[in-house]
Amino acid sequence: MSIILSDFVRGLPKAELHLHIEGTLEPELMFELATRNGVTLPFADIEAVRRAYDFSNLQDFLDLYYAGAAVLLTERDFHDLAMAYFRRLHADGGVHAEIFFDPQTHTERGVPFAVVMNGLLSAIDEAQRTLGVSCGLIMSFLRHLSEEQAFDTLREAEPWLDRFMGVGLDSSEMGHPPSKFARVFEEVRRRGLKVLAHAGEEGPPDYVREALDILHVDRIDHGNRAMEDPALVKRLADMGMTLTVCPLSNLKLCVVRDLRDHPMKRMLDAGLHATINSDDPAYFGGYLLANYVDTAKAVELTRDDLVQLARNSFSGSFLPQNEKSRHLAEIDAYAARYPGALR
Ligand code: ADE
Ligand code: ZN
Repeated sequence: MSIILSDFVRGLPKAELHLHIEGTLEPELMFELATRNGVTLPFADIEAVRRAYDFSNLQDFLDLYYAGAAVLLTERDFHDLAMAYFRRLHADGGVHAEIFFDPQTHTERGVPFAVVMNGLLSAIDEAQRTLGVSCGLIMSFLRHLSEEQAFDTLREAEPWLDRFMGVGLDSSEMGHPPSKFARVFEEVRRRGLKVLAHAGEEGPPDYVREALDILHVDRIDHGNRAMEDPALVKRLADMGMTLTVCPLSNLKLCVVRDLRDHPMKRMLDAGLHATINSDDPAYFGGYLLANYVDTAKAVELTRDDLVQLARNSFSGSFLPQNEKSRHLAEIDAYAARYPGALR
């Protein structure tokens, strides 16, 4: 018996490994929080916000993303933001998430680090209790700021370091290579934390190489432009490096012109340990399930590809081995239960 593609993917246990919690701020919640906090937005209404989401590159998007974050002021705001995301993830059949947050976006506006952390941590507890969704936090440094500011942020984060799964690097990629943050990530690794970096989203293959050779990353976020360099592709495949790829983000930020040009199928065929993720779904028009389904249709992913992607999302996670194994066994049981073709 055949099964509808979106039903099959919804039922497939999945982890999301590339998600900026600030990028889940839907225009409706943006307006609600603006009213609650007495913040004036530069938009007349929700439709005007949506109309502004027409980006020609990463920086276009980041300008709006940082402006939108101005409505996030209290613990309750961060809690509500994260809970809204967890509900959507749960509805999409996601069971685990490793989410980025950008403390500098908030502390630079005078929002205390503790406010951000308390709001996010209480939502993570609630998601586990009420939805059965597990979540780890990844603190991200903004790469358009200096390495010294990243060190300051690491010092401020000290009381919460044991609550982080890892530390990442995001924001404007071009002109801010991984090597700019060599010393601070050496310190992050010394603290026993995992290291991640956005690399090869807009930046060249050399930025991916720097992330490997200088930051010694445990995961690459995006990695698309590695595909321009066959030796690098082979290296990433041989070392089993997980790439957290975000197809609808790539489309909205013009990393690809058409979803049919997306490299996901070629990545899998090259043996890359790729995963599918939503990045900033409120801005890019689709959460985890839409990323899987739209990509599957656009580049003709097979049923086996989809199962492989779900498996990669857990094997590439930072969960302990016993939890990875439990999730992988659930995927295999699910795939065996629905052996039919997809339609
Ligand atoms: N911050 C939020 N989303 C991002 C992305 N796709 N690339 C770089 N920085 C980001
Ligand atoms: Zn990202």
